[in-house]
Amino acid sequence: MTGLLLLSALPILGGVLRLEELGTDPASAPSSPALTVAIVAHIVGMSVYCLLGAFQFSPALRGRRAWHRRAGRVLIPAGMIGALGSIVLAVFFYGPAEEFALAIVRIVFAVPMLGFLMLATRAIARRRFDAHGAWMTRAYAIAITGGTQALVLIVWSLFGGETSIVSETWLVGVGFVINSLVAEGIIRRRLRRG
Ligand code: HEM
Repeated sequence: MTGLLLLSALPILGGVLRLEELGTDPASAPSSPALTVAIVAHIVGMSVYCLLGAFQFSPALRGRRAWHRRAGRVLIPAGMIGALGSIVLAVFFYGPAEEFALAIVRIVFAVPMLGFLMLATRAIARRRFDAHGAWMTRAYAIAITGGTQALVLIVWSLFGGETSIVSETWLVGVGFVINSLVAEGIIRRRLRRG
C-alpha cells in the first residue's frame, strides 16, 4: 500500500501545482472554460482514485467490508470522471503540436481504464468478486502509471538517454506497458492462489 501511495505522489503533486497555476494565473488556462473544467475534473478524479484506491489493496482494510464498499462507491466514479477528463483533454488537445503524440499515447490507455471500471462495476453487481478485483487492478495499474513513468525517465537519463518529447512519449508508453504487465502478473498469482 505504501508503495502505491508513493507511486501516486508525484503525479498528484504535479496535478496540485497545475490547479494552483490555474487559480493564480488565468492566462495559463485553455481558452475554452469547458476544457478548464475537464482539467480540474481530470486532476481531482485521478488523484482521489489513486489515493483511495491504494487503501483498497490493503488486505486488512479489504477485510472490513463496510469500508471497502464505501470507499469503492467514491473511487469508482472518481476514476471514471478522471478517465473521461483525459479523453476530453486528448480529443480537444490544446497544447503544443509536438506534444500531441503524448496525448494520443495517454488516450490509448485512458479508454481501456474507463472500460475496466465499467466492467468492474458490472462484475460487482453480478457478485463476481474475482472478476471485480481483476478489472479494478487493471484500471488502477493504468491510473498510477505517472509514478512509474517518472522512474522510467530517471533510469533512462541515468543511462545517458537524451530527453526529448519523442523519447518522453516512448517512455510514457513503456510506463503504461510495465504497469499493465505487473497488474496481469498480480491477477494470475491471485487466481493460482484461489
Ligand atoms: C494522479 C494521476 C494524474 C494526474 C494528477 C494527472 C494530471 C494531469 C495534468 C496536470 C495534465 C495537464 C492538464 C493541462 O494543463 O492541460 C494532464 C493531462 C492529461 N492527462 Fe493526466 N494525470 C493523471 C493521470 C493520467 C492518466 C492515468 C491518464 C491516461 C490513462 C492521463 C491522461 C491525460 C491526458 C490524455 C492529458 C491531456 C493531454 C496531455 O496533456 O498530454 N492522465 N494530466
